[in-house]
Amino acid sequence: MTAIDVRPDAEAMEAAVAAALRTVDANMAMFGDRYPGDTTVHNRYALRPPAAGQPEGANVGWTTSFWPGMLWLAYELTGDDAYRRSAAAHVRSFADRIERRIDVDTHDLGFLYTLSCVTPWRLTGDRRARRAALSAADHLLSRVLQPAGIIQAWGDLDDPQQRGRTIIDSLMNTPLLFWASETSGDPRYAATARRHVAQLRDHILRPDGTTFHTFYWDAETGQPLRGATEQGTADDSCWARGQAWGIYGFSLNHRYTQDPSLLRAAERCADYFLAHLPADQVAYWDLEFGDGSGEERDSSAAAIAASGLVDLAEQLPAGRRREHYLAAARAILASLIDGYSTAAHPESNALILHGVYDKPKGLGVDEGTLWGDYFYLEALTRAVRPKWTAPW
Ligand code: GLY
Repeated sequence: MTAIDVRPDAEAMEAAVAAALRTVDANMAMFGDRYPGDTTVHNRYALRPPAAGQPEGANVGWTTSFWPGMLWLAYELTGDDAYRRSAAAHVRSFADRIERRIDVDTHDLGFLYTLSCVTPWRLTGDRRARRAALSAADHLLSRVLQPAGIIQAWGDLDDPQQRGRTIIDSLMNTPLLFWASETSGDPRYAATARRHVAQLRDHILRPDGTTFHTFYWDAETGQPLRGATEQGTADDSCWARGQAWGIYGFSLNHRYTQDPSLLRAAERCADYFLAHLPADQVAYWDLEFGDGSGEERDSSAAAIAASGLVDLAEQLPAGRRREHYLAAARAILASLIDGYSTAAHPESNALILHGVYDKPKGLGVDEGTLWGDYFYLEALTRAVRPKWTAPW
């Protein structure tokens, strides 16, 4: 694949990378081998609160891998061995987590193990990391419900509230399955991913190019049932981060399958997302809202889209649409640097501010988010290192 140069203003991008790395350095000293919370509180990350029977700072929840993910990005950006050592030290915790089945009743094993374990295997040949990632892929297969062929998103497979439910974010988890097939030679992982993604293309993506956050199938008959939201403003609204996961997720799944319908799905998600951005190009937390609404923005949706749009553009032939998505990615990233990054906020230990985790539940509203920080640094990495290979 031809690498694309997306450097709009190399100096501004390099300055933004340098500022981000200063924050990563300070966090490395503060967190050590433990994990920050999902989001900041008053713009600062503290250690992850105790959860799932584990102590403060433990490896639980769906976001812990974004921290070693940032460390691996820092290593790839600088070649500095201190980042490599710090990132590699997290493999032990992730291997232990999957061996002991600590808080792994989730489809988010893809987010967790792609960044924490597939990356060290790919970059350094760490065999323990490969084993842990394969074990996580096996566990993900145990969440498949037939005959629908979907991977249940959350909770116990017998939980009546969650049974048969999948969510748009799962598109980012299937790359772990494609990797597992590639590395093991066992085609079952990729076949599962293909079937799951086809179901999302047909049901979670709506005819107008918007997406449901979550969708239920009848677990016994496999019939598609209904869409519903959890983090958006309404079942029939378009949750901004979900739409951004749709852009990046369908694009990544196209990379693995070369199924043109998935590239088209990514474009449809992108077109709706871009048509519903406010003046500063950083989406409000639900695309229903715009300037003047008084609602909060979700900078993490913007960061995911800024990276995902470049991934999408790289898979299009040279021409107008490719340039359009690259220009949109550049505009979003420039706005994040200018208006949302913490370069001028030394009191914060996030990379970008003004994200929203879950507005309906009042979680992490107008805060830094661990995944927003990761995808911001990923989008910057794409901008300053056009030949860089994404981990997904
Ligand atoms: N994957 C969960 C979220 O985006 O909030």
